[in-house]
Amino acid sequence: MTTETQLLNSNSCLISPAIPESGFPKSSPLKLGILASGSGSNFEAIAEAINNQKLNAQIQVMIYNNPGAKVISRAEKWNVPSVLLNHREYKNREEFDSQIVKTLQEYDVEWVIMAGWMRIVTQVLINAFPNQIINIHPSLLPSFKGIKAVEQALKAGVKITGCTVHLVDVEVDNGPILMQAAVPILADDTPETLHERIQVQEHKIMVGAIALAASKNQDLSSS
Ligand code: GAR
Repeated sequence: MTTETQLLNSNSCLISPAIPESGFPKSSPLKLGILASGSGSNFEAIAEAINNQKLNAQIQVMIYNNPGAKVISRAEKWNVPSVLLNHREYKNREEFDSQIVKTLQEYDVEWVIMAGWMRIVTQVLINAFPNQIINIHPSLLPSFKGIKAVEQALKAGVKITGCTVHLVDVEVDNGPILMQAAVPILADDTPETLHERIQVQEHKIMVGAIALAASKNQDLSSS
């Protein structure tokens, strides 16, 4: 086995903070609203974790902005109501976010999960769910913010990249970091092969970070 293939072993992809075997302290069931723009593999990871009782939560609604996105069939598979809010039909970002807030409130959502949500969010959404919005990004933030993060890492020639789950503030791909996973870049990586390996880690830290955020929140509210 070469060093490179050893590095591909999932155990060598460092996750920090570690996800305890026993999970994080249980909070009351979380009511999640998921925002997704595309394939929805992170949506699916969350739905599976709930189904396997690794995450004490319920997905109240999945909001998507691109008609025909693959995430729709995933929501159907898991019997999650889905709502299309097409940003192209709104005057500006604030008006779009107001409609998102209205929909999330209609579905009694507590935590908002941006699972591949390719829109910049405004204060309108952030103020409605203070410290309760979570985003996933395919780089080790604060490196490689914005679009094409995987390509940016390859172009920069870094040897290790990864993914980050963080709380959302008004700056793009900013806000307190909850959890990160490091992924080595291999000599023959393309954006596709690298993104594929990053996504394996994304699915772990997405679930871990939701549970971590909820348990921290519980500590705060009970102290
Ligand atoms: C994920 O890799 C996520 O990190 C990225 O979009 C992908 C969505 O995948 N998000 C961003 O780039 C946000 N800045 P998915 O639709 O299969 O979950």
